[in-house]
Amino acid sequence: MKYKRVILMYFSPTGTTKKTLENIAKGLDAEQIEHLDLTDFDKRWERRTFEKDELVLFGMPVYSGRMAPPAKEIFNRTTANDTLCVPIVVYGNRAYDDALLELKNGAERCGFKTIAAAAFVAEHSFKNGIGEGRPDEKDTEKQIEFGKMVEEKALKLTDLNTADVIVPGNFPYKFTADIPISPTADDKCKNCGKCAELCPMKAIDPNNPKITDNFRCILCYRCIINCPEGARDVRVPQFKEQIKFLAVTAQQRKEPEMFI
Ligand SMILES: Cc1cc2nc3c(=O)[nH]c(=O)nc-3n(C[C@H](O)[C@H](O)[C@H](O)COP(=O)(O)O)c2cc1C
Repeated sequence: MKYKRVILMYFSPTGTTKKTLENIAKGLDAEQIEHLDLTDFDKRWERRTFEKDELVLFGMPVYSGRMAPPAKEIFNRTTANDTLCVPIVVYGNRAYDDALLELKNGAERCGFKTIAAAAFVAEHSFKNGIGEGRPDEKDTEKQIEFGKMVEEKALKLTDLNTADVIVPGNFPYKFTADIPISPTADDKCKNCGKCAELCPMKAIDPNNPKITDNFRCILCYRCIINCPEGARDVRVPQFKEQIKFLAVTAQQRKEPEMFI
């Protein structure tokens, strides 16, 4: 089954999910690769439809063992007509728990046909030393290799109903509670507004970037890593303790898992 177009569809506040998908796409035999970056709030709210001659690499980061919260609104606005799909979760070397199953199930409910799936490791968004430098050379090689496997499977496929793939995870999915805390800006903040412009949730007031809506913020760290003054951080001692503890418990290197 030869596809005509490849679309990389992803939510990627700190860029590692995007990078992972780009690496996988290098293994495909595609002339043109389109990006649908749903980190952008306005883009996420547009409706999108995919056709049978397309291949979608659908990437989401793992938050608390589930897909990052915008997943629901992404699914709600996506329709696919038996489009070939590769669900891919990217996680920070702790665990991906139920996220891959959730992504696969959600994509299939939209009308996608899963032909392969994978979980890849990247540097943790919290920048607490977990998975530092990942995806590294070894990961990149695996990602390109996975792309080649996807290409081969897509070409060999004659009946979409035989494409099914089994991935780990439990249903009902793991319960996650909202964490109503958010980064704050200190005196270094010059009110440039870059954080508000980049925030995937529109949680930061563009007129006063020192104000962040705790309930909209998903703690994705995009504003922290992109602040030109280094003014933003999560200044909650209990949170700092928790991410230090996480750094100790999630040190052992996890390897990519591919399902095809
Ligand atoms: C709020 C939050 C929760 C996270 N939960 C997990 C988790 O449960 N397991 C894990 O291994 N990584 C977790 N991570 C790390 C991200 O999955 C990982 O850093 C991912 O590569 C981020 O993708 P991005 O660079 O595309 O934003 C979490 C990150 C954030 C911001």
